[in-house]
Amino acid sequence: MRYRPFGRGKERVSVLGLGCMRMPVLGDGFSPIDEERATAIVRSAIERGINYLDTAPTYHDGTGEDFVGRALQGGYRDKVHLATKMSRKAVDSREDCRQLISDQLRRLRSDRIDMYLLHNVTKDSWRFFEDVGALDLIERARDRGEISYVGFSSHEERDFFMDLVDAHDWDFCQIQFNYADRGIQAGEEGLRHAASRGLEVVVMEPLKGGILARDDLPFMEAFRSSGKDWSPAEWSLRWVWDWPQVSVVLSGMNEMAQLEENCRVAEESGPLSLGPEELRTLERAKESFDSSLQVPCSSCGYCLPCPQGVNIPRMFTLYNNHLLSGGRSWGVTMYNFATAEAELAGNCVACGECEEKCPQDLLVSELMPRVHRELLLDD
Ligand SMILES: NC(=O)c1ccc[n+]([C@@H]2O[C@H](COP(=O)([O-])OP(=O)(O)OC[C@H]3O[C@@H](n4cnc5c(N)ncnc54)[C@H](OP(=O)(O)O)[C@@H]3O)[C@@H](O)[C@H]2O)c1
Repeated sequence: MRYRPFGRGKERVSVLGLGCMRMPVLGDGFSPIDEERATAIVRSAIERGINYLDTAPTYHDGTGEDFVGRALQGGYRDKVHLATKMSRKAVDSREDCRQLISDQLRRLRSDRIDMYLLHNVTKDSWRFFEDVGALDLIERARDRGEISYVGFSSHEERDFFMDLVDAHDWDFCQIQFNYADRGIQAGEEGLRHAASRGLEVVVMEPLKGGILARDDLPFMEAFRSSGKDWSPAEWSLRWVWDWPQVSVVLSGMNEMAQLEENCRVAEESGPLSLGPEELRTLERAKESFDSSLQVPCSSCGYCLPCPQGVNIPRMFTLYNNHLLSGGRSWGVTMYNFATAEAELAGNCVACGECEEKCPQDLLVSELMPRVHRELLLDD
């Protein structure tokens, strides 16, 4: 494993971190976590040199932190930098924020949280966090030794992101960054800005939640014709690690084979290591990606729960798959034969609640009738 300095040189973090939002689960939803497989992944990751774990109070229907706390028993806790967050969804008042931090320490079975983030900061949630003095509470927890480094994650557009970088004396920030999304949200400009202000930058969704790891999509042709035997996941990860401003790349790995591959790629890649031909291949893949993917949903699940029960991320996964594969697709089969009635796009009543929460600003209520129309088979 390669390591990079963090916290103005005081820490050494692995360039690959384990994102704990996509642990293996039993069944189709976000929970229950498949405790045995998930624990094996966490521990194997640490044994392979990964020393950065990212969780949040909202992951896996609120069970994510408890799971991580259990998985790190047996001497693993002290081998990692543990990151968790203050999520707007988990707090409604200053007292809630204060209580959350002590609940998190209990759930994580730890006397400290190494990296603490304001989670998914939007214009609305920033106003709330400012109103209740969330950062003041976090700084007090830092003074007590309960928190070491303070940062934020955000999917907001660049201008707001830039202002946020300058709004506090942050240690780090977390952004969605991959070759297909280089121009949206914080993007390349945001990455450079944060790094120039001395923030460490942690990258999330380097594979766009798994979409960029697929090898059955048209935009992968660029990789196939490159003459290199790198998988789509390897191309994407190498692109992110090519940026010298990036500290840690979080990937959600829910199979041992993924962990194995990503650890290998972490060792073989590095800042400014891609040549001009490889960068041109990635440009071609991005152009093809832009023209093929209809709905840029990364399945982060922030839109959930839908008041009607629609499984919004699943609907977009099936829809994108359908559009990318054409004809009678896997998406159509899954929609008609392998999805609970209540979760179907046809149940959307366009209330718009999900649109306020979607980090990608998707017009869900306009898209859902289209998804239903195109995926539903006539009797
Ligand atoms: N703070 C925030 O607002 C926020 C938002 C999003 C994420 N995050 C954090 O960032 C972490 C990383 O984001 P992410 O989970 O979206 O990461 P990601 O690496 O973009 O996507 C993870 C998915 O990619 C697939 N994958 C990973 N390695 C692979 C490989 N070698 N070959 C084939 N497929 C591979 C798996 O998909 P399959 O499941 O299809 O196999 C996996 O579930 C999250 O887990 C979470 O901790 C934070």
